Amino acid sequence: MTIKQLTSAIIEAACDLWRRGDIVAIPTETVYGLAADAEQDAAVAKIFTVKGRPQFNPLILHVSSLEQLADYVEVTPLLTKAAAAFWPGPLTLVLKRKSGAKLSYLVTAGLDSVAVRLPAHPIAQELIQAYGKPLAAPSANKSNSISPTSAEDVAASLGNDVPLIIDGGQTRIGLESTIVDLTSETSTILRPGGVTFEDLNKVFGQMRYAEVGAAITAPGMLKRHYAPSIPMRLNVLEKQANEVMLGFGNVEGDLNLSEQGDLGEAAANLFRMMRLLDNPVNRAIAVAPIPYWGLGIAINDRLSRAATREI
Ligand code: TXA
Ligand code: MG
Repeated sequence: MTIKQLTSAIIEAACDLWRRGDIVAIPTETVYGLAADAEQDAAVAKIFTVKGRPQFNPLILHVSSLEQLADYVEVTPLLTKAAAAFWPGPLTLVLKRKSGAKLSYLVTAGLDSVAVRLPAHPIAQELIQAYGKPLAAPSANKSNSISPTSAEDVAASLGNDVPLIIDGGQTRIGLESTIVDLTSETSTILRPGGVTFEDLNKVFGQMRYAEVGAAITAPGMLKRHYAPSIPMRLNVLEKQANEVMLGFGNVEGDLNLSEQGDLGEAAANLFRMMRLLDNPVNRAIAVAPIPYWGLGIAINDRLSRAATREI
Protein backbone atom coordinates (compact mmCIF):
# COMPACT_ATOMS: atom_id res chain seq x y z
CA MET A 1 0.00 0.00 0.00
CA THR A 2 1.31 3.44 -0.91
CA ILE A 3 -0.74 5.40 1.67
CA LYS A 4 1.56 7.10 4.18
CA GLN A 5 1.13 9.39 7.18
CA LEU A 6 3.03 12.67 7.10
CA THR A 7 6.47 12.49 8.72
CA SER A 8 9.63 14.41 7.91
CA ALA A 9 10.90 11.38 5.99
CA ILE A 10 7.69 11.31 3.93
CA ILE A 11 7.94 15.06 3.20
CA GLU A 12 11.46 14.41 1.91
CA ALA A 13 10.26 11.44 -0.15
CA ALA A 14 7.47 13.52 -1.70
CA CYS A 15 9.85 16.36 -2.60
CA ASP A 16 12.26 13.82 -4.13
CA LEU A 17 9.48 12.39 -6.28
CA TRP A 18 8.43 15.87 -7.45
CA ARG A 19 12.03 16.86 -8.23
CA ARG A 20 12.39 13.70 -10.31
CA GLY A 21 9.22 14.52 -12.27
CA ASP A 22 6.92 12.08 -10.51
CA ILE A 23 3.47 12.58 -8.97
CA VAL A 24 2.19 12.42 -5.38
CA ALA A 25 -1.42 12.50 -4.15
CA ILE A 26 -1.95 15.02 -1.36
CA PRO A 27 -4.89 16.00 0.86
CA THR A 28 -6.49 19.44 0.59
CA GLU A 29 -9.52 20.73 2.48
CA THR A 30 -11.73 20.24 -0.61
CA VAL A 31 -10.70 16.96 -2.27
CA TYR A 32 -7.40 15.09 -2.69
CA GLY A 33 -5.11 16.42 -5.43
CA LEU A 34 -2.70 14.61 -7.76
CA ALA A 35 0.30 16.91 -7.58
CA ALA A 36 3.31 17.45 -9.83
CA ASP A 37 6.04 20.07 -10.31
CA ALA A 38 4.28 22.74 -12.36
CA GLU A 39 7.45 23.67 -14.25
CA GLN A 40 8.19 20.21 -15.67
CA ASP A 41 6.25 19.26 -18.80
CA ALA A 42 6.86 15.53 -18.39
CA ALA A 43 5.70 15.59 -14.77
CA VAL A 44 2.49 17.40 -15.68
CA ALA A 45 1.93 15.05 -18.61
CA LYS A 46 2.10 12.15 -16.17
CA ILE A 47 -0.94 13.57 -14.34
CA PHE A 48 -2.99 13.35 -17.54
CA THR A 49 -1.78 9.83 -18.27
CA VAL A 50 -2.62 8.55 -14.81
CA LYS A 51 -6.02 10.26 -14.73
CA GLY A 52 -6.84 8.97 -18.21
CA ARG A 53 -8.03 12.44 -19.17
CA PRO A 54 -9.45 12.54 -22.69
CA GLN A 55 -8.16 16.05 -23.26
CA PHE A 56 -5.75 18.48 -21.72
CA ASN A 57 -7.95 20.40 -19.28
CA PRO A 58 -5.97 23.16 -17.58
CA LEU A 59 -4.92 22.48 -13.99
CA ILE A 60 -4.94 24.47 -10.76
CA LEU A 61 -1.62 25.78 -9.45
CA HIS A 62 -1.41 25.29 -5.67
CA VAL A 63 0.75 27.72 -3.69
CA SER A 64 1.66 28.12 -0.02
CA SER A 65 1.93 31.93 -0.03
CA LEU A 66 0.94 34.98 -2.05
CA GLU A 67 4.61 35.86 -2.59
CA GLN A 68 5.12 32.54 -4.36
CA LEU A 69 2.42 33.53 -6.85
CA ALA A 70 4.10 36.70 -8.05
CA ASP A 71 6.49 34.75 -10.30
CA TYR A 72 3.62 33.18 -12.23
CA VAL A 73 0.65 35.57 -12.46
CA GLU A 74 -0.05 39.29 -12.61
CA VAL A 75 -0.81 40.41 -9.05
CA THR A 76 -3.79 42.80 -9.21
CA PRO A 77 -5.67 44.69 -6.46
CA LEU A 78 -8.60 42.34 -6.99
CA LEU A 79 -6.38 39.32 -6.39
CA THR A 80 -5.05 40.87 -3.17
CA LYS A 81 -8.59 41.58 -2.00
CA ALA A 82 -9.87 38.10 -2.85
CA ALA A 83 -6.85 36.48 -1.20
CA ALA A 84 -7.33 38.50 2.00
CA ALA A 85 -10.97 37.45 2.17
CA PHE A 86 -10.84 33.79 1.14
CA TRP A 87 -7.30 32.38 1.36
CA PRO A 88 -6.26 29.96 2.53
CA GLY A 89 -9.46 28.26 1.44
CA PRO A 90 -11.63 26.67 -1.25
CA LEU A 91 -11.46 29.48 -3.83
CA THR A 92 -9.58 29.17 -7.13
CA LEU A 93 -8.82 32.38 -9.00
CA VAL A 94 -8.15 32.54 -12.74
CA LEU A 95 -5.55 35.23 -13.41
CA LYS A 96 -3.41 36.45 -16.28
CA ARG A 97 -0.26 34.43 -16.77
CA LYS A 98 2.84 36.54 -16.21
CA SER A 99 4.99 36.83 -19.28
CA GLY A 100 8.15 34.81 -18.86
CA ALA A 101 6.59 32.69 -16.11
CA LYS A 102 8.45 29.38 -15.79
CA LEU A 103 5.34 27.27 -16.00
CA SER A 104 4.63 24.25 -18.18
CA TYR A 105 2.11 25.12 -20.88
CA LEU A 106 0.44 21.82 -20.10
CA VAL A 107 -0.68 23.32 -16.77
CA THR A 108 -2.65 26.02 -18.57
CA ALA A 109 -3.53 23.93 -21.64
CA GLY A 110 -1.93 26.67 -23.71
CA LEU A 111 -4.20 29.42 -22.31
CA ASP A 112 -2.70 32.73 -21.25
CA SER A 113 -4.50 32.52 -17.93
CA VAL A 114 -3.63 30.44 -14.86
CA ALA A 115 -5.93 29.07 -12.15
CA VAL A 116 -4.39 29.39 -8.68
CA ARG A 117 -5.33 28.44 -5.16
CA LEU A 118 -3.85 28.56 -1.65
CA PRO A 119 -5.31 25.50 0.06
CA ALA A 120 -6.21 25.58 3.76
CA HIS A 121 -5.16 22.02 4.59
CA PRO A 122 -2.07 22.15 6.86
CA ILE A 123 -0.54 19.09 5.16
CA ALA A 124 -0.91 20.64 1.70
CA GLN A 125 0.63 23.88 2.93
CA GLU A 126 3.51 22.08 4.62
CA LEU A 127 4.29 20.07 1.49
CA ILE A 128 4.17 23.02 -0.91
CA GLN A 129 6.31 25.06 1.47
CA ALA A 130 8.83 22.25 1.80
CA TYR A 131 9.02 21.87 -1.97
CA GLY A 132 9.45 25.62 -2.34
CA LYS A 133 7.58 25.78 -5.65
CA PRO A 134 3.92 25.63 -6.64
CA LEU A 135 2.37 22.27 -7.47
CA ALA A 136 -0.05 21.68 -10.33
CA ALA A 137 -2.87 19.38 -9.24
CA PRO A 138 -6.26 18.22 -10.46
CA SER A 139 -8.47 16.04 -8.28
CA ALA A 140 -6.78 12.67 -7.67
CA ASN A 141 -9.26 10.40 -9.46
CA LYS A 142 -9.69 8.81 -12.87
CA SER A 143 -11.29 11.15 -15.37
CA ASN A 144 -15.12 11.17 -15.19
CA SER A 145 -15.26 9.53 -11.79
CA ILE A 146 -16.09 10.93 -8.37
CA SER A 147 -13.53 13.18 -6.70
CA PRO A 148 -11.68 11.54 -3.78
CA THR A 149 -12.31 12.72 -0.23
CA SER A 150 -10.01 10.24 1.51
CA ALA A 151 -6.64 8.59 0.88
CA GLU A 152 -8.47 5.26 0.43
CA ASP A 153 -10.62 6.82 -2.34
CA VAL A 154 -7.43 7.84 -4.17
CA ALA A 155 -6.00 4.34 -3.82
CA ALA A 156 -9.25 2.80 -5.08
CA SER A 157 -9.30 5.06 -8.15
CA LEU A 158 -5.62 5.31 -9.08
CA GLY A 159 -4.11 2.36 -7.22
CA ASN A 160 -0.59 1.47 -8.21
CA ASP A 161 -0.29 4.32 -10.71
CA VAL A 162 0.61 6.71 -7.87
CA PRO A 163 3.89 6.02 -6.06
CA LEU A 164 2.82 7.89 -2.91
CA ILE A 165 -0.51 8.92 -1.37
CA ILE A 166 -0.28 11.13 1.70
CA ASP A 167 -3.04 10.57 4.23
CA GLY A 168 -4.82 13.61 5.62
CA GLY A 169 -8.00 11.82 6.68
CA GLN A 170 -11.45 12.63 5.34
CA THR A 171 -11.50 16.07 3.66
CA ARG A 172 -13.31 18.81 5.57
CA ILE A 173 -15.23 20.42 2.71
CA GLY A 174 -15.68 17.45 0.40
CA LEU A 175 -16.45 19.48 -2.74
CA GLU A 176 -14.00 21.11 -5.13
CA SER A 177 -13.13 24.79 -4.87
CA THR A 178 -15.25 27.55 -6.35
CA ILE A 179 -13.56 28.92 -9.48
CA VAL A 180 -13.76 32.66 -10.20
CA ASP A 181 -12.36 34.23 -13.36
CA LEU A 182 -10.69 37.57 -12.58
CA THR A 183 -9.15 38.09 -16.02
CA SER A 184 -11.86 40.33 -17.47
CA GLU A 185 -13.77 43.44 -16.38
CA THR A 186 -16.60 41.50 -14.79
CA SER A 187 -15.63 38.64 -12.50
CA THR A 188 -17.54 35.46 -13.25
CA ILE A 189 -18.02 32.18 -11.45
CA LEU A 190 -16.82 29.32 -13.66
CA ARG A 191 -17.63 26.57 -11.17
CA PRO A 192 -19.66 26.68 -7.96
CA GLY A 193 -17.84 25.11 -5.02
CA GLY A 194 -16.68 25.40 -1.44
CA VAL A 195 -17.05 29.21 -1.25
CA THR A 196 -20.69 30.22 -1.68
CA PHE A 197 -22.24 32.76 -4.06
CA GLU A 198 -23.44 34.72 -1.03
CA ASP A 199 -19.91 34.96 0.45
CA LEU A 200 -18.44 36.01 -2.90
CA ASN A 201 -21.06 38.73 -3.30
CA LYS A 202 -20.12 40.17 0.09
CA VAL A 203 -16.58 40.76 -1.14
CA PHE A 204 -16.87 41.32 -4.90
CA GLY A 205 -20.29 42.92 -5.15
CA GLN A 206 -22.75 41.29 -7.54
CA MET A 207 -21.18 38.19 -9.11
CA ARG A 208 -22.55 36.27 -12.05
CA TYR A 209 -22.15 32.75 -13.35
CA ALA A 210 -20.43 32.14 -16.68
CA GLU A 211 -22.92 30.99 -19.29
CA VAL A 212 -23.26 27.24 -19.32
CA GLY A 213 -21.60 25.75 -22.37
CA ALA A 214 -19.52 28.90 -22.78
CA ALA A 215 -16.34 27.93 -24.58
CA ILE A 216 -12.94 26.79 -23.46
CA THR A 217 -12.53 29.42 -20.75
CA ALA A 218 -14.66 27.12 -18.63
CA PRO A 219 -13.63 23.63 -19.62
CA GLY A 220 -14.58 22.50 -16.12
CA MET A 221 -18.15 23.03 -17.18
CA LEU A 222 -18.20 19.92 -19.34
CA LYS A 223 -21.63 18.50 -18.64
CA ARG A 224 -20.75 15.05 -17.46
CA HIS A 225 -17.93 15.22 -14.99
CA TYR A 226 -18.50 13.47 -11.71
CA ALA A 227 -20.32 10.23 -12.24
CA PRO A 228 -21.07 6.98 -10.48
CA SER A 229 -21.36 3.88 -12.69
CA ILE A 230 -25.16 3.59 -12.28
CA PRO A 231 -27.80 6.21 -13.20
CA MET A 232 -28.88 8.89 -10.76
CA ARG A 233 -32.39 10.26 -10.34
CA LEU A 234 -32.63 13.66 -8.65
CA ASN A 235 -35.23 15.53 -6.56
CA VAL A 236 -36.81 12.28 -5.44
CA LEU A 237 -39.03 11.99 -2.36
CA GLU A 238 -39.40 8.21 -2.40
CA LYS A 239 -37.26 5.55 -4.04
CA GLN A 240 -38.57 2.99 -6.53
CA ALA A 241 -37.91 -0.76 -6.57
CA ASN A 242 -34.21 -1.66 -6.82
CA GLU A 243 -33.09 1.90 -6.24
CA VAL A 244 -30.91 3.02 -3.36
CA MET A 245 -31.69 6.38 -1.89
CA LEU A 246 -29.49 9.25 -0.78
CA GLY A 247 -31.55 11.26 1.69
CA PHE A 248 -31.30 14.80 2.99
CA GLY A 249 -32.89 16.28 6.10
CA ASN A 250 -36.18 14.61 6.83
CA VAL A 251 -36.36 12.97 3.38
CA GLU A 252 -34.91 9.67 4.47
CA GLY A 253 -32.71 7.32 2.48
CA ASP A 254 -30.37 4.35 2.79
CA LEU A 255 -27.80 7.03 3.61
CA ASN A 256 -28.54 10.61 4.59
CA LEU A 257 -26.30 13.52 3.49
CA SER A 258 -27.30 15.41 6.62
CA GLU A 259 -30.15 14.49 8.93
CA GLN A 260 -30.06 18.03 10.34
CA GLY A 261 -30.39 19.44 6.80
CA ASP A 262 -26.98 21.08 7.15
CA LEU A 263 -25.54 21.89 3.69
CA GLY A 264 -21.92 21.96 4.91
CA GLU A 265 -22.30 18.47 6.33
CA ALA A 266 -24.04 17.36 3.12
CA ALA A 267 -21.19 18.69 0.95
CA ALA A 268 -18.61 16.91 3.07
CA ASN A 269 -20.54 13.63 2.74
CA LEU A 270 -21.57 13.90 -0.93
CA PHE A 271 -18.81 12.13 -2.84
CA ARG A 272 -18.19 9.55 -0.11
CA MET A 273 -21.86 8.57 0.00
CA MET A 274 -22.19 8.52 -3.80
CA ARG A 275 -19.34 6.03 -3.81
CA LEU A 276 -20.94 3.90 -1.12
CA LEU A 277 -24.20 3.67 -3.09
CA ASP A 278 -22.49 3.15 -6.46
CA ASN A 279 -22.99 -0.60 -6.69
CA PRO A 280 -24.14 -2.33 -9.91
CA VAL A 281 -26.58 -4.48 -7.91
CA ASN A 282 -28.65 -1.29 -7.61
CA ARG A 283 -30.63 -0.01 -10.60
CA ALA A 284 -30.09 3.65 -9.78
CA ILE A 285 -29.32 6.12 -7.05
CA ALA A 286 -32.32 8.26 -6.10
CA VAL A 287 -31.43 11.56 -4.46
CA ALA A 288 -33.59 13.72 -2.20
CA PRO A 289 -34.10 17.40 -3.14
CA ILE A 290 -31.29 19.69 -1.97
CA PRO A 291 -32.08 23.39 -1.45
CA TYR A 292 -30.68 25.83 -4.00
CA TRP A 293 -28.82 28.20 -1.73
CA GLY A 294 -25.38 28.39 -0.07
CA LEU A 295 -23.37 25.20 -0.61
CA GLY A 296 -26.58 23.68 -2.01
CA ILE A 297 -25.76 25.37 -5.34
CA ALA A 298 -22.46 23.47 -5.63
CA ILE A 299 -24.06 20.23 -4.42
CA ASN A 300 -26.83 20.48 -7.03
CA ASP A 301 -24.24 21.30 -9.70
CA ARG A 302 -22.26 18.11 -8.93
CA LEU A 303 -25.42 16.03 -8.71
CA SER A 304 -26.76 17.17 -12.07
CA ARG A 305 -23.40 16.51 -13.73
CA ALA A 306 -23.34 13.04 -12.17
CA ALA A 307 -26.89 12.42 -13.36
CA THR A 308 -26.47 13.47 -16.98
CA ARG A 309 -25.82 10.70 -19.48
CA GLU A 310 -24.19 12.79 -22.18
CA ILE A 311 -20.47 13.22 -22.36
O1 TXA B 1 -10.75 21.92 -4.93
C1 TXA B 1 -10.18 21.86 -6.01
O2 TXA B 1 -10.25 22.77 -6.86
C2 TXA B 1 -9.37 20.58 -6.32
C3 TXA B 1 -8.19 20.53 -5.34
C4 TXA B 1 -7.27 19.37 -5.63
O3 TXA B 1 -7.51 21.75 -5.35
N1 TXA B 1 -8.89 20.57 -7.65
C5 TXA B 1 -9.70 20.36 -8.73
O4 TXA B 1 -9.01 20.32 -9.93
O5 TXA B 1 -10.90 20.24 -8.64
P1 TXA B 1 -9.66 19.81 -11.30
O6 TXA B 1 -8.56 19.71 -12.29
O7 TXA B 1 -10.45 18.59 -11.07
O8 TXA B 1 -10.56 21.02 -11.71
C6 TXA B 1 -9.95 22.24 -12.07
C7 TXA B 1 -10.84 23.06 -12.94
C8 TXA B 1 -11.03 22.40 -14.28
O9 TXA B 1 -12.40 22.24 -14.52
C9 TXA B 1 -10.41 23.38 -15.26
O10 TXA B 1 -11.11 23.40 -16.43
C10 TXA B 1 -10.46 24.70 -14.51
O11 TXA B 1 -10.24 24.33 -13.18
N2 TXA B 1 -9.37 25.60 -14.93
C11 TXA B 1 -8.05 25.45 -14.69
N3 TXA B 1 -7.33 26.44 -15.27
C12 TXA B 1 -8.23 27.25 -15.87
C13 TXA B 1 -8.12 28.46 -16.62
N4 TXA B 1 -6.94 29.01 -16.89
N5 TXA B 1 -9.25 29.02 -17.08
C14 TXA B 1 -10.46 28.45 -16.80
N6 TXA B 1 -10.63 27.31 -16.10
C15 TXA B 1 -9.53 26.72 -15.64
MG1 MG C 1 -11.75 16.89 -11.04
